[in-house]
Amino acid sequence: MEPIQFVLNGKPTQVAGIDPHVTLLEYLRGQNMTGTKEGCGEGECGACAVALVVKGQDGKLRYEVVNSCLVLLVEVAGKEVITVEGLGEPSALHPVQEAMAQGGASQCGYCTPGFVMSLFAEYYREGRGTGFDPEAISGNLCRCTGYRPIRDAGRCMATPAQGDPFLERLGGSLPPLPRVHVEHGGRRFYRPRALKDLFGLMKSEPEAKLIAGGTDVTVEITQRHARFPALISLEGLEELRVLERTPEFLEIGAGIPLRELEERLHGELPLFDELFPLFASRMIRSRATLGGNLVNASPIGDSAPVLLALDARVRLASAQGERVVPLSSFFVGYRKTALAPGEIMASVRVPRPFPEVSRFYKVSKRKLDDISTVAAAFALSFDRAGRISQARLAYGGVGPTPARATDAESCLVGMTWGEEAMRKARGALATAFQPISDHRGSANYRREMIVKLFEKFHAEHKGGTSCAS
Ligand SMILES: Cc1cc2nc3c(=O)[nH]c(=O)nc-3n(C[C@H](O)[C@H](O)[C@H](O)COP(=O)(O)OP(=O)(O)OC[C@H]3O[C@@H](n4cnc5c(N)ncnc54)[C@H](O)[C@@H]3O)c2cc1C
Ligand code: FES
Ligand code: FES
Repeated sequence: MEPIQFVLNGKPTQVAGIDPHVTLLEYLRGQNMTGTKEGCGEGECGACAVALVVKGQDGKLRYEVVNSCLVLLVEVAGKEVITVEGLGEPSALHPVQEAMAQGGASQCGYCTPGFVMSLFAEYYREGRGTGFDPEAISGNLCRCTGYRPIRDAGRCMATPAQGDPFLERLGGSLPPLPRVHVEHGGRRFYRPRALKDLFGLMKSEPEAKLIAGGTDVTVEITQRHARFPALISLEGLEELRVLERTPEFLEIGAGIPLRELEERLHGELPLFDELFPLFASRMIRSRATLGGNLVNASPIGDSAPVLLALDARVRLASAQGERVVPLSSFFVGYRKTALAPGEIMASVRVPRPFPEVSRFYKVSKRKLDDISTVAAAFALSFDRAGRISQARLAYGGVGPTPARATDAESCLVGMTWGEEAMRKARGALATAFQPISDHRGSANYRREMIVKLFEKFHAEHKGGTSCAS
């Protein structure tokens, strides 16, 4: 088997004989590159942050920070990785390290390399000037320094100097991702470049696990010690990264990372603008995809209620052809989907026109970077007389699958958006779901939330179409 090749801190690197389940973090630390730390091993703390060189939609290169505990080493084949060791040395710190040191932004130092990498990507962000976007450190936790000095270090960063090698690198080019086939110890990893090759592999490797951004699959590997006979990466498939606008719908490739979607759709779909900032951290969104979120079929996945409220359809593809199914019939049971063997999710279609009034609410223990206890997305459209012509009320965290409250929706259609409509829908919502109790919230609490979130929506949008979000 050929070794995988990548660039590590500017040096061409080859690795052979590696189990496909080894993470980039494990590899780095095994090479004595212990600047990259392991905190949680599941994408929560950012101590393991490293930067990748990626190509943005504008065709320009930029640095993107990812959790190396959630990236498999085999997935970096053909990529360029920068770790904290690649930045500076004690005698010649990188300007970002200098800003952290000068600002007293490090105490025990465990989180520091991760913050440095996030600030590094921010430092070279095109158009930053001397500004600082605090979202840049949204996936990094510090347990002892406190965030103010770290934020201040970010605010003190000057602009990169002419001749800065990291800046110059961004002026270069990036080769396309190569195909990969790795085999070690009876386990295999593939990264096909075309759908027909993917379907061929799925046929010859019926037990294979597909991996897109890997933010769910790698957690299974690192936390639940899952081992798969074969892993097939979807990252090399351009067919899954298409974003198409037609008069009938917006089609979103299932393999587009959420951060890219966030940038490409900014302002186009108000529900997405509300969803993304509440979905994990920027580091996770740099890898996570819509396809992964929907196929994972978690009852508390955040994109499902939003897409149900938008009446989305999913396009499923296999060697036999394609079919389009409503998302509302895609979830068939707890963590079960309508995907047939050999089938993948190719894209998500959001029909036009988009709803006139819509909101997404997420109830979680922490406001940002947390998993939902209950999530709800509401969408209304109106006819010329101001009556509700379409209503979609979708929830997550209240049953075995994300689902719509169709009885409550029926109560609303034909009504004007006032107290009477509210009263009827509230009655139907009270009995729409049978939530369970778990460590995030009791069944009673969830039942209350189902109604309260709708009341909040009503209170915030009493004016109907005139206060569309
Ligand atoms: C720290 C952390 C925070 C998180 N926060 C949130 C959050 O706030 N909200 C939330 O909803 N989720 C959250 N998640 C879960 C996760 O990030 C999302 O579910 C993400 O969208 C998964 O996408 P992925 O591309 O990484 O999926 P992967 O891990 O690659 O795959 C997930 C599953 O989908 C399958 N799959 C992937 N793509 C396809 C496809 N195109 N066709 C067929 N099968 C496919 C895989 O085989 C696998 O079974 C979080 C995860 C972590 C680690
Ligand atoms: S070790 Fe905590 S995010 Fe990777
Ligand atoms: S400096 Fe100790 S965790 Fe941040």
